[in-house]
Amino acid sequence: MPRARRSTVMITGASRGLGRALAEAFAGAGSRLVLCARGRKALEALARELEAEGAEVEWAALDVTDEAAVRELVTRSEARFGVVDVLVNNASILGHRGTLADQPVDEWRSVLDVNLTGALVAIRAVLPGMRATGGGSIINVSSGVGDRPRPGWGAYAVSKAALEALTWNLAVEERETGVRANAVDPGAMRTDMRRSAYPAEDPDSLPDPAEITPVFLWLASEESASVSGERFRAPEWP
Ligand SMILES: NC(=O)c1ccc[n+]([C@@H]2O[C@H](COP(=O)([O-])OP(=O)(O)OC[C@H]3O[C@@H](n4cnc5c(N)ncnc54)[C@H](OP(=O)(O)O)[C@@H]3O)[C@@H](O)[C@H]2O)c1
Repeated sequence: MPRARRSTVMITGASRGLGRALAEAFAGAGSRLVLCARGRKALEALARELEAEGAEVEWAALDVTDEAAVRELVTRSEARFGVVDVLVNNASILGHRGTLADQPVDEWRSVLDVNLTGALVAIRAVLPGMRATGGGSIINVSSGVGDRPRPGWGAYAVSKAALEALTWNLAVEERETGVRANAVDPGAMRTDMRRSAYPAEDPDSLPDPAEITPVFLWLASEESASVSGERFRAPEWP
């Protein structure tokens, strides 16, 4: 497995599921970590666990839609670690599942706010530092619903398609700065989100999120230095 260089990696939605697996994988690769999620308890427990294993961690219980809180976390981590080299926009909510005709507008707004605007907020917080060092890797976590129609997935599907569009535009806009942007569809994983989407499914039939972390480590590494504006399906990688 390619190892990430010693870098500072920010992961949103790090307290459980894929975000937690990524935090553990990057810590194992020697990265410094900047972690956030709304719930304090699980996040703090994870940070303490990783620190006990030797990792350096900055963390904050925050909502990714809260621009001031995200900026404060990035400023604090930059003061301690230097710039954020890698950002994984992983935080996401499922929201109301149903047809667009039946989509409650409040719920639509919340899903787009977290899944799409939250990513922009984190990108805007880390981008000046990345530009200043002439490089950086932004990895947006999409979904199988992000690049094709999936009726009945409401705002979630639209938010992931828009997150992919954000990725392609960012990749082109930042080409000269050295900042890269790619999207990863992690595929089905054994997590809380998947359980709430498919309550009748046997969780043991699904991969643990730890199994799909290698593509993220590679996208964070120098080995993918020329890769930007691309979409990866984690289960099919490499
Ligand atoms: N699981 C799957 O099968 C699957 C398939 C395709 C794509 N994905 C994508 O993979 C990513 C990870 O999914 P998962 O299954 O690991 O989800 P999950 O188990 O529900 O975990 C989501 C994480 O995001 C955090 N979060 C949610 N809203 C947030 C907010 N407003 N601000 C900050 N943090 C927030 C959660 O913590 P708090 O609740 O404490 O904030 C949690 O740490 C998501 O982008 C998801 O769309 C998952």
